[in-house]
Amino acid sequence: MPAVVLIGAQWGDEGKGKITDFLAEKSQVVVRYQGGSNAGHTIVLGPEVYKLHLVPSGIFYPEKLCLIAGGVVLDPAVLLAELASLRLRGVSAANLRVSTNAHVIMPYHRLLDELEENARGAARIGTTGRGIGPAYRDKINRSGIRVQDLLEPDLLSAKLDENLAEKNALLTKIYGHDPLPAEAIRREYLEYGARLAPSVTDTALLVNERLARGERVLFEGAQGIMLDLDHGTYPFVTSSNPVAGGACTGAGVGPLCIDSVVGVLKAYTTRVGSGPFPTELAGEKGDLLRQRGGEYGTTTGRARRCGWLDAVVARYAVRISGLSHLALMKLDVLTGFGPLKICTGYRLPDGTILTEFPQSARVLSQITPVYEELAGWDEDVSGIRDFDRLPATARAYVRRVEELAGAPVTLLAVGPEREQTIARGHVFAPEPGGQ
Ligand code: IMP
Repeated sequence: MPAVVLIGAQWGDEGKGKITDFLAEKSQVVVRYQGGSNAGHTIVLGPEVYKLHLVPSGIFYPEKLCLIAGGVVLDPAVLLAELASLRLRGVSAANLRVSTNAHVIMPYHRLLDELEENARGAARIGTTGRGIGPAYRDKINRSGIRVQDLLEPDLLSAKLDENLAEKNALLTKIYGHDPLPAEAIRREYLEYGARLAPSVTDTALLVNERLARGERVLFEGAQGIMLDLDHGTYPFVTSSNPVAGGACTGAGVGPLCIDSVVGVLKAYTTRVGSGPFPTELAGEKGDLLRQRGGEYGTTTGRARRCGWLDAVVARYAVRISGLSHLALMKLDVLTGFGPLKICTGYRLPDGTILTEFPQSARVLSQITPVYEELAGWDEDVSGIRDFDRLPATARAYVRRVEELAGAPVTLLAVGPEREQTIARGHVFAPEPGGQ
């Protein structure tokens, strides 16, 4: 059962879209299993730049089966718009299937996301405003509306009435907002259901059937482990599980199906939204990273906070998700940057140095990063496809990341294009006689 889980090893935006696209070529099935349209995966194919929020990155290969599994919270309007824009550019979505169990993001989820964020004031999380938290909250509360409900008018009406009774009370009494109209929402979402109906199916059954046939399956994670609801920098996290285990619950597969887990790690660090970020560079260097790396959100356009690579975070990612491989991204962005720093530990006020990521938010707020300085390089690395041809200092940087993180850098990105990738080994076990 050759299955690979690909996840973000930092705070999201590591470049998962590019690596998913690269590995999708070697897979037969690509599965999105958590998160929703808060994600933004950028894929560069020649002159074309695609920004996907919900559709799995395997969509560019017409023969691959692409699944949006039950762990995703689905905004049907976003999905349909994304499919329409792909169609306009000649990309067919005939091989996309959507889980009958995926929860649906409703207009009140988006509205509450925004109103709740405003109410948090200085303590705001900096959500993407896509209704993610409120939709997962209804799922956990067992009151959510699922994709299957959009196909049943009576059921949808009953569930919508039940939900709106509560949401409209919240909107009017707590937030002083106008109530939302049931009938217009019902009509809009039934229409979405009718348009999605041909693609709606039991995706867990499909993926398990394909795995049983020995097909290669790629589980495409969204966000990153530091945004994980259980293992991230709570409460400054998303409402799903970007850790590798999320693939099992979100897609409905057993853990023994998974052969390898790839953690995508940017050669430096970025974060959008609020919350702890030990290696953040507030001044000129941070601005330079943002500018050179094009560090602006795919979904919200927000400027990302930038900083040095944090090996404490990388080691945590390896531990929490059992990463068997790392994909180190955007190495080219560090060209000409001068000496580079990697954070190897966190110093507490009493001088103690932590080498493991602390669980206590209070401790995290008191630490200062301990850095190791490495020589940089000035040579253009974007055309290099062979690890041994990289400048010696770039190779030393990569090797130090491997040592500190405790996992091999199997894939290395030196530019945004699919081909600007250095493979130092296989992520999927090679087929007999083949790749
Ligand atoms: P939410 O997922 O919209 O609720 O946002 C919660 C936190 O996760 C915020 O800090 C967002 O900026 C962050 N976040 C959500 N999705 C992504 C992503 O795809 N990349 C990076 N950060 C994200």
